[in-house]
Amino acid sequence: MARLIIVSNRVAPISEGGPAAGGLAVGVYDALKETGGMWFGWSGEILGAGQPMLTVTQRGPVTFATIGLTRRDYDQYYRGFSNATLWPTLHYRSDLTEYDRSDFDGYRRVNAWLAARLVPLLEPDDIVWVHDYHLIPFAEALRLAGVRNRLGFFLHTPFPAAQVLTTVPPHAELVRALTCYDVVGVQTAPDLRALVDYIVCEAGGTVTHDGRVDAFGRTLQIGAFPIGIYPDEIASLAASGSEDDVVHAMRDTMGARKLIISVDRLDYSKGLLERFRAFETLLEHSPAQRQQVTFMQIAPPTRADLHAYQAMRSKLESEAGRINGRFGELHWTPIRYIHRQYDRAVLASVFRAAAVGYVTPLRDGMNLVAKEYVAAQDPDDPGVLVLSRFAGAAQQMHGALIVNPIDRVGMAEALDRALSMPRDERRSRYRDMMKMLRDENVSVWRDDFLRALRGEAWPLPETARA
Ligand code: ADP
Ligand code: G6P
Repeated sequence: MARLIIVSNRVAPISEGGPAAGGLAVGVYDALKETGGMWFGWSGEILGAGQPMLTVTQRGPVTFATIGLTRRDYDQYYRGFSNATLWPTLHYRSDLTEYDRSDFDGYRRVNAWLAARLVPLLEPDDIVWVHDYHLIPFAEALRLAGVRNRLGFFLHTPFPAAQVLTTVPPHAELVRALTCYDVVGVQTAPDLRALVDYIVCEAGGTVTHDGRVDAFGRTLQIGAFPIGIYPDEIASLAASGSEDDVVHAMRDTMGARKLIISVDRLDYSKGLLERFRAFETLLEHSPAQRQQVTFMQIAPPTRADLHAYQAMRSKLESEAGRINGRFGELHWTPIRYIHRQYDRAVLASVFRAAAVGYVTPLRDGMNLVAKEYVAAQDPDDPGVLVLSRFAGAAQQMHGALIVNPIDRVGMAEALDRALSMPRDERRSRYRDMMKMLRDENVSVWRDDFLRALRGEAWPLPETARA
């Protein structure tokens, strides 16, 4: 069996207390811990110039090979082009997109530098699976270094409409670099349609109905591969975490009140401000819900050295304060706003304790929290998922109440409906979603992608057809 090499900028924390969690690290680790293999990427550390360091650590069947970046590399490649240019564009926030040509040069330079560090670790049969927008030019750099292995790429974020992507000045170079992979995967059918549209209309390429692409003089395979979770693992974590002291203490403070839960990295793509305001509208329009419900937002800070994140954080803090000031009582705080990271079992049992999972990003590649919330529910008395239509997960989670995060009143109505939904309806929605989560779990995602990468046919899930 060929060895699997995963490459991503962010690698799952090797020890406790690592960086803010994200779907890539969680999903990829779940996929890799079963098959084993090597995970190569940034260590999360900034090193002094001239001392980049490769560290190799073993955890179970996974070898972690991580490497430090210099301050300049971090600024140009990670903070600059990846997160100040690509991330906002991929999430349809061209208003926040910054562009600096020297950052793009740094992005290409670091990709080439990382690729050169990987080459000596590769064996001829290895299958290399590269993840996310930081590493679009990685295959091109490997090919230039003479690597002939199968190379796959998966984009965890949305693939935006061509009209949005073309606002990034080197868009053609980026898509051309993507065609150096053998397989390119995106999360959903709408992402795939956007990619096809770019290839056909902007790049003058062709795409067959089953995803064979001819463009920029290259041939490759594209497809939609929605990332999943292990729902039964989350369900048992939720049951065991319920015994944790922190969770007991939380339930004590809640009393008979219902809990609405949101958990996201503190990112402008997640729609936190719109969500806070829609909760305010619920309290305004449905006085019966006041004091009967608490909204808890857990939001570990992320990319805090970028202005857009700082600006959004301070706006959010003032909105939380304003809404709590307006509706709070001596014995009741409407919004609880927490920046901490939690252990997965604690998080899962907080999901289980919540009557509503409130997952309303403005744009999101998939959103694993939506899936984790449902998986964590008590099958006899499950909560209700309120989900943005702009999360990739909305393509699969038909049992959720689907909302448009821009529609404040619509969101408040969905919250109201979720809080008063009869148990039978909750159970039937939960059962439908649990079935989908089991049928399309994270190993299905991994195996389908790897099948495509080996050049074998893979079954397209109904939800991923273009
Ligand atoms: P993104 O990848 O944009 O961060 P996802 O919802 O796909 O969004 O993935 C986030 C992952 O990080 C989920 O697995 C979630 O459980 C985890 N996570 C988010 N916030 C926390 C937190 N405060 N503590 C622990 N894990 C968290
Ligand atoms: C999203 C991205 C990942 C990223 C994660 C956390 O999930 O798709 O690539 O790792 O956010 O962000 P960070 O910048 O901390 O790696």
